[in-house]
Amino acid sequence: MAAPEPLSPVIAVLNMKGGVGKTTISAHLMHHMFERLQKSTLLIDLDPQFNLSQTVLTRSRYEKTKEAGKTISAVMEPSQSPSIFQITTNFDPPPKDAEISTKLKYFTHSPDINLAILPGDFGLTKYSLIEDQASLQPIRRRFLQFIAETRTQRDLICIDCNPSSSFLTVCALLACTHVLIPVRPDRYSILGLQLLDQFISELPLLISKPKMIIVLNGSRRSDSEMSTESTLRGDGRFGPLVLANHMPFSNLMAANDGYVGFATDKKVSHVSAIKTRLTKVTDELKGHLGW
Ligand SMILES: Nc1ncnc2c1ncn2[C@@H]1O[C@H](COP(=O)(O)OP(=O)(O)OP(=O)(O)O)[C@@H](O)[C@H]1O
Ligand SMILES: [Mg+2]
Repeated sequence: MAAPEPLSPVIAVLNMKGGVGKTTISAHLMHHMFERLQKSTLLIDLDPQFNLSQTVLTRSRYEKTKEAGKTISAVMEPSQSPSIFQITTNFDPPPKDAEISTKLKYFTHSPDINLAILPGDFGLTKYSLIEDQASLQPIRRRFLQFIAETRTQRDLICIDCNPSSSFLTVCALLACTHVLIPVRPDRYSILGLQLLDQFISELPLLISKPKMIIVLNGSRRSDSEMSTESTLRGDGRFGPLVLANHMPFSNLMAANDGYVGFATDKKVSHVSAIKTRLTKVTDELKGHLGW
């Protein structure tokens, strides 16, 4: 009998440090990976700030999607609760990916291979306000059930996480197979990594530990950045986890209020340079995902 197909990888893009490029990597690297490898991909915006959704959806498209109840909130709870301090305990199964995700791109020769987003929702903030964390268990279960079902339909799931260690971070860690950690080459970066490493290794619910992958992001190759990078690469614990290729600082990837969409779709001549960088990181990451 043939061995069953291995389940698709789930990447949590995570770092408890803010502003290191989690959302940038989730949007632009995953988009490039989708186009290059033609893998059906679901992006999940698990950050209540929903920056990923704002990066790839126009405001009006996001508003319509939210009105239709097609955001991550629909996965967490069956319907919006009347109060921000209340949750709806209901054991109905979560909705299906195809019912609630928003398609961003697809291949005309094979529309099933698409890149979609499950948009974020400011309403997720309430999970950090609820004191009785045990009451959130059914929500976590629903989220994990959604991920388990989606893994049978998609080639890849990528979860953009919020920077704090919260209920949502634990949900992402329990769901993922890989943790992709963007790191800015500054002197606090190793400290942030140690904290995350400890959090992952001591999280009691986490039976099978996800594989950690570190990607250096936003470097301008200054002397001090190069020195931090070599310290990180020389670190006994973290050095071997750092991808050989880095994502440089690029104006094309920098958030810009006037632009909604992916960096590499911009019609400018220097887009090829950033595509080359993204290709190198994609090809390296591909090996880690077992593709
Ligand atoms: N490689 C890059 N080149 C240029 N700008 C970048 C790059 N990576 C990130 N940025 C910019 O840095 C800022 C922070 O990036 P981003 O929002 O991706 O970080 P984050 O880790 O998701 O932040 P948060 O912790 O708030 O969720 C944004 O303005 C983004 O456009
Ligand atoms: Mg972010």
